[in-house]
Amino acid sequence: MDFDTRLRRKAQSVNFTLQRILDCRQINSDVKEALKYTLGAPGKRVRSVLVLWCCELVGGRLNSNAEIASAAIEMVHTYSLIHDDLPAMDDDDMRRGIPTCHKAFDEATAILTGDALLTLAFEILAEGIDKPAIAIRLISQLAQDAGAAGMIAGQMADLKAEKSAGTKKMLEYIHINKTAKMFRCATAMGAICGGAAQKQFECLCEYGLHVGLAFQIADDILDETVSSKQLGKTAGKDRKASKCTYPAVVGLERAKEVREKLTSEAMAMLKSFGPKADTLRQFAMALLERTK
Ligand code: IPE
Ligand code: IPE
Ligand code: MG
Ligand code: MG
Ligand code: MG
Repeated sequence: MDFDTRLRRKAQSVNFTLQRILDCRQINSDVKEALKYTLGAPGKRVRSVLVLWCCELVGGRLNSNAEIASAAIEMVHTYSLIHDDLPAMDDDDMRRGIPTCHKAFDEATAILTGDALLTLAFEILAEGIDKPAIAIRLISQLAQDAGAAGMIAGQMADLKAEKSAGTKKMLEYIHINKTAKMFRCATAMGAICGGAAQKQFECLCEYGLHVGLAFQIADDILDETVSSKQLGKTAGKDRKASKCTYPAVVGLERAKEVREKLTSEAMAMLKSFGPKADTLRQFAMALLERTK
């Protein structure tokens, strides 16, 4: 099976897990409608797939803890997108090829749907993980990487940077926090679920940070080089909003070089795993070459 097919099937399995979890929960019907609308749109599910593949790499096979962790990280990621698109933040009309949550419903519904996804992620970890010690580690990892010293810190700095000239230092801070830490979280959660040794855990965390940073640089590049139709979200918005992006601060060519360098550094983190980590090598390459 080629890599793209494997990635697609894995993403599909995340969709089934999400569906299964949502179907057996009592959720306010208005929130549920908005939640299904946004989660049901074609997101790439890359963070979730990373959880599953990291678990398989260190543990030899998938387990139900990794499935729950993969759903939890997708919920937190989707919440971050719903809020990122709000008028008070990036003010976007399109997401995943359809109108954003606040456009399809209203702002209050979008805020509450984001809140619901965030809390639900922690609920499923607290209730569904089979060992309390693993649940605590997963909850702590997700809280740290998505929280005020992680994704939220990056989002805050991203908005603040619209009002000043971007520097390389700001750029790194924003991108590592708003995006790379969620990828690090995915690899860390997968490693925890698979029972990784400390050294394996550390290598996978570093791999996650590197591919995550490369992922956000690619996002910045795509915003300038690809159509809205292909992206499923409005292209060319970063310049208009004076965002602190890699192409804006270091130029398009240099941004591409940094993205490649980070990808090879990510590959280097996988050395000790040998050929077993080929899937993660292909994953890093696929993210490098992505066009949406
Ligand atoms: C978009 O993430 C936000 C960034 C961190 C760049 P994705 O590109 O993974 O979005 P979906 O989940 O596929 O829609
Ligand atoms: C979003 O970065 C990062 C998070 C949602 C945490 P962007 O604002 O660049 O993402 P897009 O381009 O709207 O998907
Ligand atoms: Mg943003
Ligand atoms: Mg945005
Ligand atoms: Mg972007």
